[in-house]
Amino acid sequence: MLILGIESSCDETAASVSENGTTILSSVISTQIEEHKKYGGVVPEIASRRHSENILGVVKEALEKSGKTLDDMDAIAVTYAPGLIGALLVGVNFAKGLAMATGKPLIPVHHIAGHIASNYIAHPELEPPYLCLVASGGHSHIIEVLSHTEFRVVGKTRDDAAGECFDKCARALGFPYPGGVHIDRASASGNPETYPLPVPRVAGSEYDFSFSGLKTAVINMVHNASQKGTDIIAEDMAASVQKTISEILVSRTIAAAKDLGYRKIVLAGGVSANSGVRSTLSAACEKNKFELFMPPLSLCGDNGAMIACQGYFNYKAGITADVSLNAVATMPIDKL
Ligand code: KG4
Ligand code: ZN
Repeated sequence: MLILGIESSCDETAASVSENGTTILSSVISTQIEEHKKYGGVVPEIASRRHSENILGVVKEALEKSGKTLDDMDAIAVTYAPGLIGALLVGVNFAKGLAMATGKPLIPVHHIAGHIASNYIAHPELEPPYLCLVASGGHSHIIEVLSHTEFRVVGKTRDDAAGECFDKCARALGFPYPGGVHIDRASASGNPETYPLPVPRVAGSEYDFSFSGLKTAVINMVHNASQKGTDIIAEDMAASVQKTISEILVSRTIAAAKDLGYRKIVLAGGVSANSGVRSTLSAACEKNKFELFMPPLSLCGDNGAMIACQGYFNYKAGITADVSLNAVATMPIDKL
């Protein structure tokens, strides 16, 4: 089954053709990072405009590179939630237009389910049920993946997402947007013990996260140092931030896995590219004899292949939409 997957929830316009979900025939990603960098973060209005300009070219290129035509597609999958509403609408309307014009099925895909599905591409042997840690720029969740299309959130952030925390700490240290990858690089030569950082807990919910206190602590330390005329060693602070975020994400995931009886752990989302998160989770899984699946770096960030892949599983489960499909900015993955 050939599926065209379309993604436009944030600052990447992406399209991909996949066969039976897990074989990628093409994957094209047009990123807007350079433009948003000037403003230190994603400007929603600019994101929508760029998606509108880019989507036709990106989809055409994905079809060309796959060696297939639109006619060959069996269905069209699109991210419809969650994300920036104006950005999502571009992909949703484009996909609806294609589905209407061709009479092909339209498949709605939840963005987080797409991130999780990137692991099926990389690890075709992976089967639910398992416990998944999803950490991205907008989300930090611990999710029970009961089947390819059924999810139960057991933990989530109460404030900032892990990626947002990486990005805001990076900004305080003078790194450009998106700063997560710069924290990752700088950490390699930093000492994580130089600047101890708080590990915020969420009262009454041991699997939930809170990252805003950590972000504020870093911003205050940088601010206080500059007021005193001293310097923060960026590499050391980056290493502290990375170690602290990694330990928070991993400790709660492992606790949830033990309590809920999962021995299979999966990582997903943009932050799964972080070397500290990967190594901390690998070590914890090895210690507890848990099986671990992580996406390759090429599938960690937003892409169309993960949407095409989840689209395949949605289609097999009978999840399709008609042209009344709308984009939704906020939608929990377990309330689909
Ligand atoms: O999944 P994604 O591409 O977009 C959302 O769905 O939000 O995630 C983007 C987030 C950004 O916050 C970015 O800084 C972070 O993932 N990120 C990283 C790394 N690569 C991307 N954070 C830490 N270390 C990295 N290597
Ligand atoms: Zn994403």
